[in-house]
Amino acid sequence: MTSPPPPWALLAELTHSCPLHCPYCSNPLELVRRSRELSAEKWADVLRQAAELGVIHTHLSGGEPLLRPDLAAIVAAAESAGIYTQLVTSGVGLSAPRMSALASAGLRSVQLSVQHAGPAASDRIAGYRSFAAKEQAAAVVRDAELPLGLNVVLHRDNLDAVDAIVDLGVAWGAERIELANVQFYGWALHNRTALLPTRDQLSRARETVESRRQQLAGTTELVWVVPDYFDGVAKPCMGGWGAVSLTVAPDGGVLPCPAAGALPDLEVPNVRDRSLEWIWNSSPAFNLYRGTEWMSGPCGGCPRRETDFGGCRCQAHALTGDAARTDPACALSPDHALVRALAEAPPDDLPPDDARRYVYRGPRPARRERSRG
Ligand code: FES
Repeated sequence: MTSPPPPWALLAELTHSCPLHCPYCSNPLELVRRSRELSAEKWADVLRQAAELGVIHTHLSGGEPLLRPDLAAIVAAAESAGIYTQLVTSGVGLSAPRMSALASAGLRSVQLSVQHAGPAASDRIAGYRSFAAKEQAAAVVRDAELPLGLNVVLHRDNLDAVDAIVDLGVAWGAERIELANVQFYGWALHNRTALLPTRDQLSRARETVESRRQQLAGTTELVWVVPDYFDGVAKPCMGGWGAVSLTVAPDGGVLPCPAAGALPDLEVPNVRDRSLEWIWNSSPAFNLYRGTEWMSGPCGGCPRRETDFGGCRCQAHALTGDAARTDPACALSPDHALVRALAEAPPDDLPPDDARRYVYRGPRPARRERSRG
């Protein structure tokens, strides 16, 4: 077997603990307990191995990575391995002294999440009073003169505010604002009814983003992550399975994408047992959907197969029960009607109570609460 090209990015999920309870949380349904998290020493070893493998960029993420008291040591380990570090945070706990310690350890940039343009709506979506902490965190990052990015998951409850969200990002000093339309797998499936936007909402937001992009050209970058349910085009998930990046979970499990642990029959390799080099090059998990040979159905002969890589394996599994099928988001998929039926039937006709409740993310499923009123 010839070796695949090396990865360049590593998503380090340092902990699954998080003060927020977002209804579209991208962490797996089964969260890793704190007692099973890798130590800072093991993370240093993982980062050294990653650098040897070719990784040049890591997102230090969670959960909320600031809940790790040894975060600065992990940043320092990445820095000494020659890896660029970006902190991905809710902002809760990012005080000036903490920022200063992280910057001294070598942290290079911060990506801050926000849920809406204003405190009440943002806190309601997050299920936690956190907007003030986020505003404070943005100021602290600015004072430390680190590049700041804003990340906003877009859905039915905030798409109409996209203009104000862009204003917020500009006011907070973000150099990059990522507007990521919600993806429906994992926890977001519990809330699909409440989160699914209407086609009109999406087209208004898309126009707004286009005009703000022109207005902000050269100062703030706006990134629009496509709503694949509506576009009929599969997204090139993770840049392809085992193609450019890997995810290390808090307990050392290594996955081609953060959600892949939910796929049946995927034996998740672990850095406690195996080298990162073996995991990337030789593990069955990373080779399962790598490249194009595994593809069947319309993907097999499609000219886009090396552009979209057959779409998202986790979405294919969530919607069809078979991770090897073409992502139903693609208009050429035999299962595309599943997505079309969902996209064309937004929950306008559902009882408001059902449409407007979230199942908030918690350590265990089914903490259902009223999201408004
Ligand atoms: Fe797992 Fe797309 S989220 S492959």
